[in-house]
Amino acid sequence: MTNQTSSKSNSVQVSHLRCIGCSTVFEKAQQNFRCASCDDLLEIVYPDWNTSDATRLDAAKLRALWRQRRTSGLPADESGVWRFRELLPSFDEKDVISLREGNTPLYEMPGCARIAGLPQLYAKHQGMNPTGSFKDTGMTVAASVARRGGFRWVACASTGNTSASMAAYAARSEMRSLVLIPEGKVSWGKLSQALDYGAVTCQLKTDFDGCMRVLNEVIQRMPVYLLNSVNPYRLEGQKTAAIELMEQLGWQPPDHIIVPGGNLGNSSALGKAFIEMRQLGLISRLPRVSIIQAAGANPLVRTMRENGGKELISVQAETAASAIRIGNPASWKKAVRVLQATGGTVEEVSEVEIALAKAEIGADGIGCEPASAVTLAGLKKLVEQGFVKPGERVILILTGHLLKDPEFTLKFHRGDLLTGTASENEVSILRPQQRAPIVLDATVDAVVQTLKKADDKLEA
Ligand code: F0G
Repeated sequence: MTNQTSSKSNSVQVSHLRCIGCSTVFEKAQQNFRCASCDDLLEIVYPDWNTSDATRLDAAKLRALWRQRRTSGLPADESGVWRFRELLPSFDEKDVISLREGNTPLYEMPGCARIAGLPQLYAKHQGMNPTGSFKDTGMTVAASVARRGGFRWVACASTGNTSASMAAYAARSEMRSLVLIPEGKVSWGKLSQALDYGAVTCQLKTDFDGCMRVLNEVIQRMPVYLLNSVNPYRLEGQKTAAIELMEQLGWQPPDHIIVPGGNLGNSSALGKAFIEMRQLGLISRLPRVSIIQAAGANPLVRTMRENGGKELISVQAETAASAIRIGNPASWKKAVRVLQATGGTVEEVSEVEIALAKAEIGADGIGCEPASAVTLAGLKKLVEQGFVKPGERVILILTGHLLKDPEFTLKFHRGDLLTGTASENEVSILRPQQRAPIVLDATVDAVVQTLKKADDKLEA
């Protein structure tokens, strides 16, 4: 990246690709980003960070440099990812594809705090990224690597958000993109984004795990660059959400981070960031990173509960939270490592609990997509169990935008989201949050009466 301006940093990061299983170090990754010796996933490591010599990064200087860049107009400094480039693989500015991703808000959630039984609660809203999800923070890095490597085509399997993000970054850099999505299981909003950004979009008659299987064969046959989260450059970019969060919190680590789990790339990335920040002296201790899954798509929960994280238990995934409808998560070992290193836990939540939590996050004037709402639903359980204590500081990671799944939201408010699948008792829990649109004659009286009725209800 740039070396000539006020945003100058003192060091060029040396980074390696290393296998998480057998620790073999590679100069270059294979097409599938797996270890050539043992087939495990790769991660990016920075050997200089382990030394105590002059190449070691200085925490105080880094914090000051990152703060200073917030006033810079350089594209790389305006990106909430590349602003933290000292903790990323080195790049020339000309190679960076950025949509000014990151820079996402940290919101106080007073209503949700009351519901969860906590004095305070905050949400870092990664859905406020350019294409509406946290995927942009990883895509800016991995797509930049693809273009630097001379690839014409990039590809991903997706439950929606990855495809929209990848297609946007490919379009920005004149690469073509190939999207594989499960037919009928992706929201229209996401599909329409991929189409508008010019992706070749294939709806396969299978689920996400099936799309992933097909793509793994395609990349062996064609020179396309894989942009799923097995690509470790994605995770390096996604790390920066944790760095930005710590900056927003004045570098005082919270007690708990609660994150949704699907393919388990994001929880792995956030955990890696906290571990690295502690290693570099940017934070003094680790928050507990806990991962929440839908009960119908709970491979990590089962893996932790049934064998302590030793062997993945895959499941046939089923949940209306389409983003996390994943039964065979690629990054499960990395996620287990994060749980163990940070002392976090796993929890699963039902469809009713997800729907209720989503409406509660909406009622705080924030909103998120269903997959993100598992965080609040899970938090309630962790408070009940005493894992999260009332005085502790908790951050929910909201991963996607409210407008991703409008069908889900409309069905919820009309009362037909869980028809036939939930008991009358469960459905009655949702009613106080439901606000179906009201069809009226076009008269002032009708509107005024509706207003009065709603006001009476509020006061009752
Ligand atoms: N939340 C949202 C909004 C997501 O889109 C995803 C994953 C997750 C959570 C889970 O994150 O996979 O890193 O554990 N979406 C994928 C996609 C898989 O294709 O967009 P994860």
